[in-house]
Amino acid sequence: MIKSITIRSLTVLFLVFTFIACGKKRVINFPKTDLAASHLIPKPLKVTPTNGGFALDKFTAIYTNKNIAGFEEAGKFLADKIKAKTNLDIKVNVDAIPDLETVIYINQSENTDLDGTEAYQLNITQDSVILNSSTAAGIFRGIQTLRQIIPETSNDTLADTKIWMIPTGEIIDSPQFEYRGSMLDVARHFFSVEDVKKYIDILAYYKYNVLHLHLSDDQGWRIEIKSWPKLTEIGGSTEVGGASGGFYTQEDYTEIVNYAAVHHIMIVPEIDMPGHTNAASVAYPFLNGNGKIAKLYEGTEVGFSTFDTRKDTVYTFIDDVIREVAALSPGPYFHIGGDESHVTKKNDYIYFINKVEKIVQKHGKKMIGWDEVATADVDSTSISQFWASKENAQTSVNKGLKIIMSPAKKAYLDMQYDLTSKHGLHWAAYIPTDTAYIWTPEYYEGIPLKNILGIEAPLWSETISNIDELEYLAFPRAIGYSELSWTTQENRDWESYKVRLANQAPFLDRMKVKYYPSPLIDWKKSKYSYTKIEKD
Ligand code: ACM
Repeated sequence: MIKSITIRSLTVLFLVFTFIACGKKRVINFPKTDLAASHLIPKPLKVTPTNGGFALDKFTAIYTNKNIAGFEEAGKFLADKIKAKTNLDIKVNVDAIPDLETVIYINQSENTDLDGTEAYQLNITQDSVILNSSTAAGIFRGIQTLRQIIPETSNDTLADTKIWMIPTGEIIDSPQFEYRGSMLDVARHFFSVEDVKKYIDILAYYKYNVLHLHLSDDQGWRIEIKSWPKLTEIGGSTEVGGASGGFYTQEDYTEIVNYAAVHHIMIVPEIDMPGHTNAASVAYPFLNGNGKIAKLYEGTEVGFSTFDTRKDTVYTFIDDVIREVAALSPGPYFHIGGDESHVTKKNDYIYFINKVEKIVQKHGKKMIGWDEVATADVDSTSISQFWASKENAQTSVNKGLKIIMSPAKKAYLDMQYDLTSKHGLHWAAYIPTDTAYIWTPEYYEGIPLKNILGIEAPLWSETISNIDELEYLAFPRAIGYSELSWTTQENRDWESYKVRLANQAPFLDRMKVKYYPSPLIDWKKSKYSYTKIEKD
């Protein structure tokens, strides 16, 4: 499939193979393994097994293109993850290793077969693993595939040194949707920077590329705004249930943005308005448009708050907030919420969304809003997030907007699995692990595929207040949403998925993820073992 590997790549490959040739070859009786039987999630576009084995061991090294941004970093990321899984110290871009026998080469390829910015190709032979992509993002996605192929345990009966046997073959892969996200509500309950980083770690492993942070709501304002300090001083001081809340300083938020960027995940910030704004109105009462005195709120009812949409000073405030948050957020999007503004008059709502869309654009971002925003005069560069209303989704299509698919009945991570679930709500549905997977976003509610930007699984936090509870609701369902957004419909199948999901248990356990052990899945808690076909 690879038609054109650049001259520069060939030079480095030549060096790499010279290293291999000079190395001292051990004779190992490789068992044959099957790449097609690797438990990959999301399932790649095309897997062609060749039924051999690549020995990952202490004689393996990683080489990367050095002068292309992100490639060497990706190589180091892979080495760290190999260390965490196997305890092997794999060197990256070292000049010479006397006993070097196998190499992992991370290569920029301008191959025209690899369409799309996240496409990659992985070619695994007995001596080398070559990972090709035209971008660092594609390399990063390919690295996740490689991490999943490396067995959890070594095969140390065959040689005097521990070997992790990687099945040989070729994988060609690229995502179906360019937007593959989850949302975390840090407003109803606050989650620390460390919690968010752990969530990013797991999302990245399953090739997510977006984390949307719901940074403000009635119960709390969670991001420092330097020009309006009371937002966090007062508005950040509580949360659902009355605990002390919390907020991200701008440095904390930047730490999250940078951590996400290393994982090729973009942060989409959301400041929800004109409803869901009680915490802001407590901090600055002039913002309030519901005619009542706003007080700190620890409950979970929705739809009682609104900004005053006809006051110029409210837009001065919003301009400052969007300017500060947009400046900290390198991605192209700014989410303005726009949902459930039940006490904002219809005309006022439309007037408000029209004005705020322009402010978002002035600060260099595209506006995203929950599906209600389609009722305003939004222009076609804005994006509508379908969560509840089929009519609003259709209006979005008619206005030429791209849509992020998050239908609550299928994709809300805070919906309970079933009657016995310890956390979560069920106002939209119970969503067991199979229901979360078995639906077709490509054809959902008649929305044309060409309008779909991608899929996002939101996790609202009314009923969860710590990382264990977060993980109980998010996993395993978020793993299924990764496959719905990456893998084409023809390549998805519940029977195949549920076996691959069962085999995520060793990874999730190693990462100390407290996932919900759905009884629909025959979790493989025992040690990972690759599928042996036959012995040479
Ligand atoms: C929402 O669930 N209110 C977007």
